Amino acid sequence: MNNQKLTKFPVWKKLTHHADMMHQPEMHLKNLLKDNKRLNNFSNKGSNIFFDYSRHRVNKMTMDLLFELAENRKAIELFNAMTKGEKVNNTENRAALHTATRSFSSDSIIVDDINIMLETREVRNKIKTFATKVHSGEITGSTGKRFKHIVVIGIGGSYLGSEFVAHSLKANADRNIKIHFLANVDIHNFGAIITEIEPETTLWVVISKTYTTAETMANVKQATVFMEGKGLDPSKHFVTVTSKNSPGDDPASPVLETFHMFDYIGGRYSVTSAVGGVPLSLYIGYENFEEFLKGAEEMDLHANNSPPEQNLPLIAALISIWNNNFLGYQAQGIIPYATPLSKLAPHVQQLYMESNGKSVTKTGEELDVSSGLIIFGEPGTNAQHSFFQLAHQGRSFPIDFIGVVNPQYKEYKSKSKGVTNHQELWANLISQPSALAIGKDDPKKAKYFSGNRPSSTILIEDLSPANIGRLLSFYEARTVFEAFIWGINPFDQFGVELGKVLATDIRNEISEKNNKNNHNFDKNDPITKFYLDTLFSGKL
Ligand code: F6P
Repeated sequence: MNNQKLTKFPVWKKLTHHADMMHQPEMHLKNLLKDNKRLNNFSNKGSNIFFDYSRHRVNKMTMDLLFELAENRKAIELFNAMTKGEKVNNTENRAALHTATRSFSSDSIIVDDINIMLETREVRNKIKTFATKVHSGEITGSTGKRFKHIVVIGIGGSYLGSEFVAHSLKANADRNIKIHFLANVDIHNFGAIITEIEPETTLWVVISKTYTTAETMANVKQATVFMEGKGLDPSKHFVTVTSKNSPGDDPASPVLETFHMFDYIGGRYSVTSAVGGVPLSLYIGYENFEEFLKGAEEMDLHANNSPPEQNLPLIAALISIWNNNFLGYQAQGIIPYATPLSKLAPHVQQLYMESNGKSVTKTGEELDVSSGLIIFGEPGTNAQHSFFQLAHQGRSFPIDFIGVVNPQYKEYKSKSKGVTNHQELWANLISQPSALAIGKDDPKKAKYFSGNRPSSTILIEDLSPANIGRLLSFYEARTVFEAFIWGINPFDQFGVELGKVLATDIRNEISEKNNKNNHNFDKNDPITKFYLDTLFSGKL
């Protein structure tokens, strides 16, 4: 990796200069969009995803310079190296092989002299066998009843991806099994779930790479005590997904089954490993899970093998960098016009912000440009009735609009104002990017729309498992491409540690008070003492 500051790269300087030009009034999107070939020139299809970037503030020169940047920064080469098992996570001396978890190729991937594809396939087969036995009733709870509830205990990367996919593929969940997510240590999360489950038919799937995460451990304890209180044997109602030899992989604490995840799979990239594999195979069936993996694999191959000008996630990454570093946008909205995709934004929020919220390069120098963006989102059209006032007339932020061509529930065809619900949804999906881009003149200031607000439109054909896999891989690849261009490591997350350390000190204080009633909080700073006193007094 070249240690030269990014801003010193000739192509970076050229882009900075070019951005001045793109800020000129004649480069307003309403003018750029007058070109009838605009969509043709600024859109691509790959791996069954259509990506339209015609409503970004770019022209041919912008794209040429961005492709030059990608070339300079060896973005695709680094992606290739990542998928081959090179230790791209240099700060932790690890490979980043989430792509291997959905590879159906017979090729080996060697890491530290081991072909990791063997253990990867072994885990996949184990998931298939387990899910099949649960569905057939061969594996049941301790009283012999079939499992009807899966409660996933896990947080962050051990939760958000599975939740996104489970929501997206709810229509495929036809096995009389419900899924619940117990992520938060907040007792309201646990309390609400136990009102929805039947203990005898509940399988708790504990997902934690480290098996030390405080929230997850607290919830495991809560669930274990709850099951014991119901006279049920926890070892017949729990499975774990964790690293080899972690405390969750200890024969002294038996469970129905343990599935391994490996150090080359980062939490936020782990949906296609056992982390997603176990809960999703139980919920939607192994066959659907495999179809999902194959969609993700197809997009991985697209990202690995397509030239820059046709490489969807690379183009998305370059445009994101353009918007962030050259046009000055600080946030990005992800607005799927499909309610089943409602958990995409929270997933990408962690994926992208935990990966790219960094201030130093891979080699430890201060990064001279800002990396990362604030990612947020809600499904459309709900988002339009929530924060789109700001999107149209307030602070501007680029948006990914996501459309699904063919909806589920096609049998409901009644029309309002001459159109079906799905057509109404699309009328909005089509109009919003235009309204943002073109704007509207009005002599009354309050009714004036400045326009020139950028967005992408991403289309998938339907909500099939394969398309959800493609979408997942698209956002993963886009995330790491951006990191490779900035020269940062998207696979570590030291930024989450400080808060955890401080929480440990405060937890110790609370525990001390639980053990000794006369313990006081005087040695803490006044603000901490106030909150601790308030917690124990139960009064405001
Ligand atoms: O706090 C962030 C984090 O470390 C994530 O990166 C990770 O996915 C999550 O916590 C959960 O960690 P674990 O799987 O070890 O419980």
